[in-house]
Amino acid sequence: MTSTEAAPPIPGTGVDRVDGRLKVTGAAHYPSDFRLPDMAHAALVRSTIAAGTIARLDAARAAAMPGVLAVITHQNADRLRKARRNLIFPPPPPPLQDAKISYHGQYVAMVVAETRQQAAAAARLIEVTYDRAEPVLTPEDPAAKPRSNPYFIDMKRGNPKAAMAAAAVTMEGTFTTPAQTHNPLGPFTTMAHWDGDTLTVYDSTQNPFHVRAVLAASFGLAEEKVRVLSPYVGGGFGAGLRSWPHSILAALAARTVARPVQLSLTRPEMFTGIGRRPSTVQHVKIAATRDGKLVAIDHESTSTASMGSDSPYPVTHGTTAAYACPNVAARDKRVRLNIPPIAHMRAPGEAEGNFALESLLDELSYELGMDPVELRLRNYAEVHPQTGLPWSSKALRECYQVGAERFGWARREPAAGAMRDGRWLVGYGMAGVTYSHYQAKCQARATIRRDGTAHVASGATDIGTGTYTVMTQLAAEVLGLTVDRVTFELGDTRLPRAPQAGGSGLTAALGSAVHNTCVALVQRFLALVSDDPGSPLQGCAIEDIVASDGRLARGDDASRGESYAEILERHGLDELTADGDSAPSRAETGVLVGSLVVSRMGRFGRKLVGASHATVPAGAFGARFAEVRVDPDLGVLRIARIVSVTDGGRVLNNKLARSQIIGGTIGGIGMAMFEETISDPGSGRVANATLGDYLLAVNADVPDIDVDFVGEPDPDNPIGVKGIGEVGLAGVAAAIANGVYHATGRRIRSLPITIDQLL
Ligand code: MOS
Repeated sequence: MTSTEAAPPIPGTGVDRVDGRLKVTGAAHYPSDFRLPDMAHAALVRSTIAAGTIARLDAARAAAMPGVLAVITHQNADRLRKARRNLIFPPPPPPLQDAKISYHGQYVAMVVAETRQQAAAAARLIEVTYDRAEPVLTPEDPAAKPRSNPYFIDMKRGNPKAAMAAAAVTMEGTFTTPAQTHNPLGPFTTMAHWDGDTLTVYDSTQNPFHVRAVLAASFGLAEEKVRVLSPYVGGGFGAGLRSWPHSILAALAARTVARPVQLSLTRPEMFTGIGRRPSTVQHVKIAATRDGKLVAIDHESTSTASMGSDSPYPVTHGTTAAYACPNVAARDKRVRLNIPPIAHMRAPGEAEGNFALESLLDELSYELGMDPVELRLRNYAEVHPQTGLPWSSKALRECYQVGAERFGWARREPAAGAMRDGRWLVGYGMAGVTYSHYQAKCQARATIRRDGTAHVASGATDIGTGTYTVMTQLAAEVLGLTVDRVTFELGDTRLPRAPQAGGSGLTAALGSAVHNTCVALVQRFLALVSDDPGSPLQGCAIEDIVASDGRLARGDDASRGESYAEILERHGLDELTADGDSAPSRAETGVLVGSLVVSRMGRFGRKLVGASHATVPAGAFGARFAEVRVDPDLGVLRIARIVSVTDGGRVLNNKLARSQIIGGTIGGIGMAMFEETISDPGSGRVANATLGDYLLAVNADVPDIDVDFVGEPDPDNPIGVKGIGEVGLAGVAAAIANGVYHATGRRIRSLPITIDQLL
């Protein structure tokens, strides 16, 4: 059985990106592409110490440079207000307000000039001297104090300690994962423009309404006075979920010089200015019976956070949902350091936690002499193990089965070091994934015009995932229009309110809103003809009709119907519009703190995040299989192939869904082998802040990736989807590390896996 046979019929499978042509022809405008008349440019100066204060700042030479319009520092910047606390996406402290420095790379000055080059040249002439304090840069520093995470995300069930003491087999290990940088290709840019006390910004963001709230608060404006536009975003990976100081600074610059100002971050600035994946140190203990039944898991992680603004980053939470184990403790600590702010990064927490747990399970499989897939099946969580509630849907077993079959797992020799291909040691490794999504409230608007076209809109963003395309498909499906007759508009806070493109939850949230809105629009048409004797649809309810070819017809007699255009014309209308929304998911095991608070804190937590529903365990699932090759003399690791099978619920667009999983897998290869944001131990300066020095998986590192989907449409939302934006990354690092052990007998517990570890 392959999933293609098992999957339900999918309208619009493989539809090309509706924005593809615009993107390849340059007609899609990213924030850095917008130009306004009289637009000036800003450039930033960053701190060269990680802790201390500015002792002296001399901007005289910079101010005298050609083209310079203003130099803004903490000495002359307008006072900015602190934005309101946001639990999930904490806003930055207002920039350039005092002389205090808490990380290397913090902005200390901004130059506004006629051209970008003039601004950058003048910025270099600003002289700053510092009173340097001793920075705390690593969790090992005695001055670093790990503390409990303040976000109520620790979980416990049963009595892990007692179960551990009585168990036949126990394993433990310490695993580390490094800081990483998102590195979207598009430079994060804010273009700001004031008209009186109305602020318009074009911004690289995954979260326009959040940026609007932060800008409004910073400048003491009502939110309606701020408009955030982000029709195209050149990648995000989580870097665009929070709001960042440069966006506030662009608006400040524009107000100061009373002209539109564009502020585009340089690549090195992208390493300090828009968040990073925190590093983690994780201690995991597991206990099992000799026949492979897990009896206890204890998972503790300490992840890094900045001094100035923290963000919830749950690493161990996924461990509580992954297996049917009666005694589990999961604790997240964090340690504040003099490092740039952290941010969620694709599969935040889950990617790191999964690496530790799935690696240790692999160790257990060797200890027990049991096949790694079999070990996971023996501990299959038929119900959500923390709550005992049934999953909304779960096809993880099929992920293992289909993945093992496609991979040829049966050919694996059980012993480590037993498989060779010439000089290469060959290893087969695998990992399982339980991944939760977070679905927030969402609104949309849909209009059908007399020319038979539809316009559907919501203020979400498409960060390259295909939101424009699948929303167009969903609207076309409900309205009975071809895809080319539907336009989907997004990326503007004047449109109906949408949540962030993140937490693997936007397709579910926005898709459900689009679905509900289009249903409401069809109902408006039916209401219009309900007492219209001229209509063959008179008196029909929505259940009685079908929509196709721009026409509503009776389900029992397709010849009796009429087109949207005919209805509008007869009623003297140019168009008909409906507003609609979707409720937050009932999903309980979300990776983002909102749903974690819900699960941990019951009704109070629910109130805190605005969720009112009873909770249902929901999520995507996956199995990852990797074949690796290791050269025993040179320590070179190559990935030969990866099979990635995902239960993502209903797949709306096979082409885009595959792309999401392939992209996630490549991120997982990067995590396993390459990506690490390295800081100079003395100064805290990011030492590899270029795309030449920060290693990403490139084409030569990426093998054949075989992607498949299993599972059923999920009943948790009307369109049947689960989030698949992040699940593809999770499990890949563990599958590779487990493959490396199988090839070499060497257990690598510290990412990335580098040559020196394999020699
Ligand atoms: Mo994702 S880290 O929720 O953009």
